[in-house]
Order: sequence, then C-alpha cells, then structure tokens
Amino acid sequence: MEPCAGADERPAAAPRTEAPVCLCNNVSRRQLEEAWHAGARDVAGLAAATRATTGCGGCVLDVRDIIGQLDGSAPPPEPAVSPAVPFPGPAEGPGTLVVIGHGMVGQRLLATLRSRDRTGRWRVVVLAEEGRPAYDRVSLSSYLDGKSAEDLSLVDADLLADPLVELRPGCPAVAVDPAARTVRTAAGDVLGYDALVLATGSRPFVPPVPGRDSAGCFVYRTFEDLDAIRAAAGEDRPCVVIGGGVLGLEAASALQGLGMRPHVVERAPRVLAAQLDEAESRDMARQLTDVGLRLHCGTGVTRITAGPDGGVRSVALDDGSVLEADLVVFSAGIVPADDLAGQAGLARGERGGFLVDRHCRTADPRIWAVGECAAVAGRCYGVVAPGYRMADMVARHLLGEPAPAFTAPDVPTRLKLVGAAGAAMA
Ligand SMILES: Cc1cc2nc3c(=O)[nH]c(=O)nc-3n(C[C@H](O)[C@H](O)[C@H](O)COP(=O)(O)OP(=O)(O)OC[C@H]3O[C@@H](n4cnc5c(N)ncnc54)[C@H](O)[C@@H]3O)c2cc1C
Ligand code: FES
Repeated sequence: MEPCAGADERPAAAPRTEAPVCLCNNVSRRQLEEAWHAGARDVAGLAAATRATTGCGGCVLDVRDIIGQLDGSAPPPEPAVSPAVPFPGPAEGPGTLVVIGHGMVGQRLLATLRSRDRTGRWRVVVLAEEGRPAYDRVSLSSYLDGKSAEDLSLVDADLLADPLVELRPGCPAVAVDPAARTVRTAAGDVLGYDALVLATGSRPFVPPVPGRDSAGCFVYRTFEDLDAIRAAAGEDRPCVVIGGGVLGLEAASALQGLGMRPHVVERAPRVLAAQLDEAESRDMARQLTDVGLRLHCGTGVTRITAGPDGGVRSVALDDGSVLEADLVVFSAGIVPADDLAGQAGLARGERGGFLVDRHCRTADPRIWAVGECAAVAGRCYGVVAPGYRMADMVARHLLGEPAPAFTAPDVPTRLKLVGAAGAAMA
C-alpha cells in the first residue's frame, strides 16, 4: 500500500486538559475544571458557565464523568482492556478503514480516530447514503426555525481536506463480503478493507396503517424530510403526528411553528409515558394543550384516507373519531438500519441491530458497529451520547489502545420544542 502523504505533518496531540470535551461548543476539560472550581457543580451549572452539553448533548456523559472525578463521587473507572481476540489490524503501513454511514456517530468515530492517529495508521473511506456530510441531527428541528444546513454541519474544512480521509456522500453501501473483506456500493464500486465500521443509524418506524403511502405522509429524520414537510405545510391547516414521545412532540411543535394545527395521537394512555410519571405527564399534557396541541392518548390510528388527488384528507382513530388532516408525520419509533447484516452473515440482536460485544465488535474481528445500529450485548441505544462513547472506544481499539468496555449509561432526555410550545415552556 502507498505511504500516505501528510501523515507526518499533523500537529502534536493537544495536552489532555486542552482537548475538547464538547465538540459542538469547543469546550475543553480545562474550561470545565475552571468552571467547577468557580462553583458550577452539576451538569446544568457547567452548561450555563461553558455551554458544554447545550448542543447535540453527546458530551453529557463525559461532563458527568468529569464532575464525578472532581467531587470524588465517580465510581472507580472500569479498567481499559483490549478485546480477547486481538484485532488483526493492517500488517504494516497504513490500512484501509471503511466506515458505512456518515451520521453523528460515524463522524465522531472519524474525528476521534484522526485526532489520535498520529502515525497515519489508517486511511479512512466513509460511505454516506445522504447527499451531504454529517450534521447535528439532534438539532434538526432548528432548521425549521431559521438555522441553515451549514449551521448544523459537524464537518469542518480541515477534515474535508485531510489526505487520509475520503468522504463519499450519496454513496450507500449495498453489500459486505466479510470473507473477501470488501464492500460494494450502490454505484457498483468494490472497496477492500482492513477494518470495517458499521454506523448506519436507524430508520423511522412506519406502522402498517392502510393509507400510509398517501401523498402528505412524512417521517422526520433528515433535511430532505423537513424540506418536504415545509413544502407541504399550509397555514392554519390541520395535521396529525402519530406518536406522542419526545420526538413526536418535537415534530408537532415544529409543525405548529410552520403555522399548522397539529393533533398528536399516542397509543399509550399518556404523553411521554417512558420519561414522566403520571402526575408529570398530566402537567405536561396541560401545558401542551394550553399552547394549542390537540392530544389524543390511549388510541391508535386505524386508517389514513386520501382524497381523489391522492393527498391525505383524514386520519381515523380506533376510538371512532376521524381527524381532518392535510399532512401526517409518523414518529412512532425507530428501527436499527441493519439491512446489511443478513447478506453478510452478521448476527442481529433480538430487536434488530448488528449484534456486537461490549467492545462493539461483531463475531468477525475486523467488523465493528457503533451508534443506533449497534446492538451492544443485545441492546440498541436511540440517543447520541452512548453512540459517542462507542465511537471513542472503537477508535482507540483500532489504534491498538485498550479502552474500558461499554457499559449501559443513564442518559437524561431533553424535550426540544420550537414555536409557541417552546416559548410557553421555556
Ligand atoms: C429530530 C430528531 C431529534 C433528536 N433529538 C435527540 C436528542 O435530543 N437527544 C439525543 O440524544 N438524540 C436525539 N435524536 C437521535 C440522534 O439524532 C441519534 O441518536 C443520532 O443521530 C445517532 O447517530 P448515528 O450516527 O448512530 O445514526 P444517524 O445519525 O442516523 O446516521 C446514520 C447514517 O448512516 C446512513 N446510512 C444508513 N445506511 C447506509 C448505507 N447502507 N450506506 C451508507 N450510509 C448509510 C444514514 O443515511 C445516516 O446518514 C434525535 C433524532 C431526530 C431525528
Ligand atoms: S453538546 Fe457537547 S458535543 Fe454536542
């Protein structure tokens, strides 16, 4: 393999305390420690003092760890270990790492690996299904509130110019051959790899409701979804969000911000049933109703009816009511994007996702999975902070560094509402 140009020109590693902990707001450990010594003793205090955790929220676990280390409340750190079956790695010289998926976690892996790989051990090829580099999906709703796609980008010019990184937007992988160690793209290219990281995220779950393919039915995950929703939205027109969880309420408030009048249909008896107890949920429902969201809990959708033009007209519920609607957004959960598993002979978790061990490694020692597509010891995580942990760990293993095995973190959930709902609840 050709030696990689530029590998020796990289600057020396930043001292540990200067390395950014919060990538969104470029906050270092030193700044967090200074804020802690100045009296900010919890995540909220440090967020107010430094802005750490206020972007995508992916650094919240690291900030919590730092607080624990400073106040002595942190349990002793898990020992750093290497996987029992060592990673074969490239024999010598730079190897080729292929990353499938350039979402938040794929980008985190790329950034961490390139910042730690001082000897140019890896050349990285990133295959991205979406037509643009990774962006802050957590803050996607702010795109309907005035932010641009560029504002939400997670990729800086240095990374795009890095000679050891080849980013291929709009180039999904369609097959993996673990025996030949190759990946095939939709365009028909076949790429060899020394290591492969699957970072394909999730797809929105769309329940099999009759009429779900009608014009005016959308999901809520990408810029393209939001562009389509914005184009279809009508001032003062009724719409329905299917799902009253965190993301469904976020979508409903965004639709309200577009001037629409959303209904929210939730099969569970109350909104945010997974996050709030009964009294809190009742209080939240009252606040949401006060700002104009129309909540229908304890009922499901039985049919979506389209008009003669094929566009949505109404949504029927199993409590017998029929809601007039020009637009429907499905926000009824996510499923791991693990389509590549079957053909590649990779095991899936019980509820889907590429099955990996606590080092995020599949049964093939050259193939790893991180982020929402990974079923770590059988469990998938639908928020970004655990994915960032997985990405950091795999980057270290790829560089031959031991790392603590992944443990299930407890991640706080934030409800992000825009428009009237956001203003009323701020
Ligand atoms: C509106 C919204 C709000 C959210 N709010 C929060 C929040 O407040 N807090 C929180 O923690 N999380 C939140 N999330 C979830 C968070 O965005 C995800 O946890 C995070 O994006 C997961 O990162 P990922 O890289 O695993 O997956 P993704 O970001 O989904 O990236 C996966 C990428 O892989 C691509 N891909 C899939 N298959 C292929 C293939 N075969 N070839 C090439 N590329 C492929 C996909 O197109 C995608 O670009 C939110 C999500 C949404 C949609
Ligand atoms: S908010 Fe800190 S990394 Fe995004």
